[in-house]
Amino acid sequence: MSLMGTAPPPGIGEDEIRNLVHTFYGRVREDDVIGPVFSRAVGDWDEHLAKLCDFWSSVVLRTRRYEGRPMRAHLMLPDIRAEHFDRWLDLFEATARDVLTAEAAGVFIQRARMIADSFEFGIANQRGELAAPRHVKRTS
Ligand code: HEM
Repeated sequence: MSLMGTAPPPGIGEDEIRNLVHTFYGRVREDDVIGPVFSRAVGDWDEHLAKLCDFWSSVVLRTRRYEGRPMRAHLMLPDIRAEHFDRWLDLFEATARDVLTAEAAGVFIQRARMIADSFEFGIANQRGELAAPRHVKRTS
């Protein structure tokens, strides 16, 4: 499903994104599975939260506030695994449903799942774990 043409959900602005991001990372930091990954990697939480607000603003409101390289940040994490992505998404989806309307939550959740798939794909590719990477196959 392509979401490129998805309009921003009604009632969503920077304040709602800020609340979502801050509530979500509050839960992340207390989580047994993914909390430790973040405490090892994140030095400055204010900076991280501001970056993530910009990221979601760019993804959902198309403001271009975020200019980073999100895949790269995750390729640098040495021991990130499928269970981390599953827990990240579980927490994110529960938080989105708690703090947003059902319609808005659905938009954020769908985008998060697509981004998670692409990060997992990039990581598997980097580690040589793809069973048959298509881009290195002969075309003739
Ligand atoms: C699945 C959806 C995810 C999204 C949308 C997402 C998004 C992001 C973004 C935008 C950044 C900032 C990158 C930058 O510009 O520096 C970031 C950083 C980070 N992410 Fe994720 N992430 C996801 C999953 C995960 C998971 C599963 C983990 C590990 C449990 C994780 C751990 C981290 C850490 C530790 C950083 C900070 C890296 C650093 O500052 O060195 N992320 N994430």
